[in-house]
Formats: sequence, C-alpha cells, structure tokens
Amino acid sequence: QRKIIIDTDPGQDDAVAILLALASPEDIEVLGITCVAGNVPLELTSKNARIVCELAGKTDVQIFAGCDRPLGRDLVTAEHVHGKTGLNGPVLPDPRMPLQETHAVDFIVETLRAEPPGTVTLCPLGPLTNIATALQRAPDIADRIQEIVLMGGAYFEVGNITPTAEFNIYVDPQAAEITFKSGAPIVVMSLDVTHKALVTPDRNTAFRNLGTPVGKAVAEMTDFFERFDKEKYGSDGAPLHDPCVTAYLIRPELFGGRRINVEIETQSELTMGMTVADWWGVTDRPANALFMRDIDADGFFSLLTERLARL
Ligand code: BDR
Ligand code: CA
Repeated sequence: QRKIIIDTDPGQDDAVAILLALASPEDIEVLGITCVAGNVPLELTSKNARIVCELAGKTDVQIFAGCDRPLGRDLVTAEHVHGKTGLNGPVLPDPRMPLQETHAVDFIVETLRAEPPGTVTLCPLGPLTNIATALQRAPDIADRIQEIVLMGGAYFEVGNITPTAEFNIYVDPQAAEITFKSGAPIVVMSLDVTHKALVTPDRNTAFRNLGTPVGKAVAEMTDFFERFDKEKYGSDGAPLHDPCVTAYLIRPELFGGRRINVEIETQSELTMGMTVADWWGVTDRPANALFMRDIDADGFFSLLTERLARL
C-alpha cells in the first residue's frame, strides 16, 4: 500500500484519477489532495477537488489550495478542453466540505518531513508549480520522496497544447525543470501512453451501466471531455490521461516504458515546455525518469470500472 499526495487541477480526467485512488484503499492511502492552477484557475480546481470527493462519499479527505500561477509565466488554462468550470458534463452539487487553511506547499513539505523517508509518493496530475515550489523551499524533501508518478510530457505523440509540448509541462516549464532535476525517482505517464487509454463507446457504456451516481458522472464527464480529442485528432474517445497515474500505483504491470534522460525546454518560445526525451539513448546524460510509452488499455479499463463500482 502506498501513501500518496495527489496534486491536481481537476479536470474531468483528474476527477477520474482521484476517484480511482479513493476507491482503492487496499493499495492507496490518500494523505491529502493539493490543488494547483492549470486546466482552470485555482479557485475552480480547489472547488472541483471537493466536488469529486463528495461524489465519492469521502468527505474526510483533506484538500489544500496551492499556487495560483506558474513560477515565471502567465497562467494558460484549458477551458477549450474541460469547459468553463473545468468539470463540465455532469451536474454536481456545490461542495460543502471545507478547504484546509494550510497552503498546499506547506502541507507537501510538512508531510514529507513528518513521514518516514521513502514512504510518500507524489502524484502530480497538473502543472508542477506546487511540487517545484516545495522542492525549492525545502530541498531536503527530495531525498524523502518515495517516487513522483506524474502525468505530463510526450515524445512520440509530441504535443497537445503546442506542436511540441504537452499541457501540464507547457503551463509551467520552469517547475517541470526543477522537478526533473530534483533527483527524486520519477515515473512519467506521457501522452504516448495516455492517447492509448481512450474511452471508446463500449467503455463509456460500462461506466454508465454501473448504475451508480459515480458511474453516471464518469460517463457524463467523458462524454463531454471526448469532444475535443475527437474533433481535433479524430480520436476514438476521451483519453484518460491522469488516471494512468493512479492505475500505475495499483497495477504497474499494465504499463511499459524505459528509464531515460528527460530534459525540459524552458528557453525557446517555439518549443517551450517540450520534454526532450532521450528515448534512443543518443546522449550520455544519466537517466532521471522511467518514461512510459505502452499500456494494456483493456486491463486498465477493467481495473478502473471494477474499482469505480465500489463507490
Ligand atoms: C493533461 O492536461 C490536462 O488537460 C489533463 O487534465 C491532463 O492532466 C493532458 O495533457
Ligand atoms: Ca490534469
């Protein structure tokens, strides 16, 4: 069982990632959920995280608001993908559960210092601003992190917000650079994986057929969310990017990749936020990440549907 902090900007796919974690107590203990500005501004991501926990009936989860903008750039959001609220699709009630008063970055630092070294995994599902701010403020935490399992970046699939950059890395490339250079063990769920985790009509029906409020909400979220990828890329359905992170914690054997060097472009406007992934080992730069490319998509969707059925 892993103790984790989910750092997130919900987002329909973030929501499904959170639901999968909350449905899997034998594998995952959620110490807290930290929110960051990304798909939509912070006020909405920290509201959406609470909506999702209430949907799951887990009102005791601690939720923290963090950084409201990237380290050195203006915030870029993705309402064109996720809708105005970030969670368009289902109609869900406003949250009643509280937001904690502690800043997300303080919670991350304090938790890593309080728990035994090597026992807390960070799961970033949005721009890496909170994570990098914590690493900058408290460099001692890098050695205490068990693993950072993040959704971000792309190599073969290149980009989804610019021709060369994936959204989470593009929004805060400096934060990504700090994270990738931190020395903490990193697992990367790139677009190369997540563009294979598509909610086809059958998979959507399986969610709906759960016959629960969670199943219905997830089906409605992916109904909304697939619009963008279908129109833009002719994709067969919504890519469930962020749930690949929480699924990896439960069934790592569903994923395949290589340990490689990954550097982040932070200078060029043209390729800003590109994950320069040395997949073919053409440099002698040391590996700093396990970069995932493959997924057993059927296995992933069975796991997800099975677990969501519990909520
Ligand atoms: C990532 O960007 C966001 O829109 C999604 O939630 C996911 O984390 C995919 O590029
Ligand atoms: Ca996200």
